[in-house]
Amino acid sequence: MALAAARDCRLVLTNLGFWTPARYALRRLGHIDHFYQMSAALRRLRFPRLRSDLRFTEASEADFDEIARGLKVLDLDSRREVITRLRFHRAGVPGCHVGRDARGELVSMQWLLRPRDAPALARACPGLYPSLGPDEVLIENIFVYPSYRGLGTFETVNHAVLDRAQREGFRVCHTFVRKDNVPSLNGNLDLGFRIRRLVTGFSVAGVSWRTL
Ligand SMILES: CC(C)(COP(=O)(O)OP(=O)(O)OC[C@H]1O[C@@H](n2cnc3c(N)ncnc32)[C@H](O)[C@@H]1OP(=O)(O)O)[C@@H](O)C(=O)NCCC(=O)NCCS
Repeated sequence: MALAAARDCRLVLTNLGFWTPARYALRRLGHIDHFYQMSAALRRLRFPRLRSDLRFTEASEADFDEIARGLKVLDLDSRREVITRLRFHRAGVPGCHVGRDARGELVSMQWLLRPRDAPALARACPGLYPSLGPDEVLIENIFVYPSYRGLGTFETVNHAVLDRAQREGFRVCHTFVRKDNVPSLNGNLDLGFRIRRLVTGFSVAGVSWRTL
């Protein structure tokens, strides 16, 4: 436990320096955020422009090591985004899928969470996600590496996990998007997701929860 916390601390400080984590720690003392819960029936989703050059696999420890090694060449915002995802994985949340291009370069990460993953998600992020019905999945924490953005990658990355979910017999998918994340909101609306409700997220004295 102490070892994991020290490893986490090292990851954050060596890649983000002091002020970015300090700002986020301060925010957790008292902060309000808003998220759209977006939902869709899987059979209604549209994927008209799939890229054929990307391959997807469930992320292994070797993939996460490679993702961590690649942090140093990213800009600050991307390092922050990737570290959030590495910590999500280290907190025990399963279901990350990585995308690679034809040369084997990392293109994306996306989590697919099934009802059986709900306990791990609740342990890692208590109070932040709803429980899932037996035919429901959640997609979370998509990240497309900057050089692959604005090229229609979003659709293909989501197709990889949502097609899999549909083949496994799931019928409904939910996702949460911060209200100012225009690329993600547009991407999800294009796929056929609809906004179900606006959820408020609170952080007070280091404890976070959402009005689920
Ligand atoms: C959000 C993100 C995944 C989008 O991936 P992307 O591959 O660049 O998205 P695409 O190029 O496939 O674009 C999908 C749609 O989003 C919209 N979009 C993309 N970039 C946009 C931008 N900068 N501003 C407004 N809309 C944008 C467009 O509507 C686009 O549809 P179009 O092809 O008809 O124009 C990517 O920007 C990212 O990884 N951001 C950092 C992490 C993040 O915010 N994750 C989301 C957590 S909910």
